[in-house]
Amino acid sequence: MNYSKQCFYVFAILAVSFLNIQCKSEKKKEVIETNTEIATNQVTIEKSDYGITSEGEKVEKYILKNASGIEIDIITYGGIITALKTPNKDGVSQDIVLGYNSLEEYTNSNPYFGALIGRYGNRIAKGKFKLNGTEYTLATNDGENHLHGGLKGFDKVVWKASEEKNDASASLKLSYLSKDMEEGYPGNLDVTVTYTLDNDNKLNVVYEATTDKTTVVNLTQHSYFNLSGDSSTSILDQELKINADTYIPVNETLIPNGELATVENTPFDFTTMKVIGKDIEADNDQLRKGLGFDHCWVLNEQNTGVRYAATAYDPSSGRVLEIYTDEPGIQFYSGNFLDGTLPSKNGGTYAQRSGFCLETQHYPDSPNQKDFPSTVLEPGKKYESTTSFIFSVKK
Ligand code: BGC
Repeated sequence: MNYSKQCFYVFAILAVSFLNIQCKSEKKKEVIETNTEIATNQVTIEKSDYGITSEGEKVEKYILKNASGIEIDIITYGGIITALKTPNKDGVSQDIVLGYNSLEEYTNSNPYFGALIGRYGNRIAKGKFKLNGTEYTLATNDGENHLHGGLKGFDKVVWKASEEKNDASASLKLSYLSKDMEEGYPGNLDVTVTYTLDNDNKLNVVYEATTDKTTVVNLTQHSYFNLSGDSSTSILDQELKINADTYIPVNETLIPNGELATVENTPFDFTTMKVIGKDIEADNDQLRKGLGFDHCWVLNEQNTGVRYAATAYDPSSGRVLEIYTDEPGIQFYSGNFLDGTLPSKNGGTYAQRSGFCLETQHYPDSPNQKDFPSTVLEPGKKYESTTSFIFSVKK
């Protein structure tokens, strides 16, 4: 073989092996791409740094995303849902919860936007209650009453986070140890709240707690929704249905008088879909006391496990939010105390009634109300509560 022939064969062999390698790597790429396709149909969870509190505690943000474009951002400070994006009827994704853009704003002044609430969601009269003959005095942070866990409730602590994932859902598990006598409550309370997003557009929230001394517990989630996706608009045109034939009237400091009242023929009747603004300005003593709706509804079908609680609907965007819970009550708060002073996420401020809360819970002031379902947790027993938020659109 002469030299030029030799060169030709070497070149040909090299070219064939090069093509072969290329081919294999194309195949590999294909496999990876197919895997990515499978991966994007799964619910994802991603973690990033969010900030550092003034006490030097690191705060992280977790983003859960599902295949139909629902995105939920949760920070470990207060377990706060800082953003919740869902598509409207035209497929446009928008944020449907009130909140802020920075940790500093959340730590400065937060009317519980998006937060986990504990040890006791809602009010305890004069911050006092008795357990087995011992009187306990809690921090008072709402006039003479105790509200949402006190001066430093679960909305203002940094939770420990861990992630869980399977094919159908992704979860963020948040844990916090509330020490004996924190905010005046007895017992070391070990709390876990698990947020799970699935591909059926459900956000499931499971609350669990155990204690080493008899105590009271009533945990909830305090997101302010504006289903339009534009918090500069009012929630008064949005519609609501609550699965409740009775509600709990309150005194001037929003403490129950112990009675349950029928909703029939009152502005509190949401047994069928009703525009929130329809009766909110009615001449009604309870509405005057709450500055609007700020009451606990007694859900029907008590003690039947998780069942239907409420539906909110925004005709302009088509967004529907359904709530299911095993709790006996739901506090519907129409954002009456928002007064246009707090900065919104998109440069404006939050006006009165720019968001509503639907807080599943036991009734307000239960530790002092003998006829209300008990909120007492004993050592050796487990507190467990489940609430689901289901998102959809109606065209
Ligand atoms: C209460 C309101 C309170 C608000 C604070 C709601 O859960 O029902 O009375 O003002 O929380 O943001």
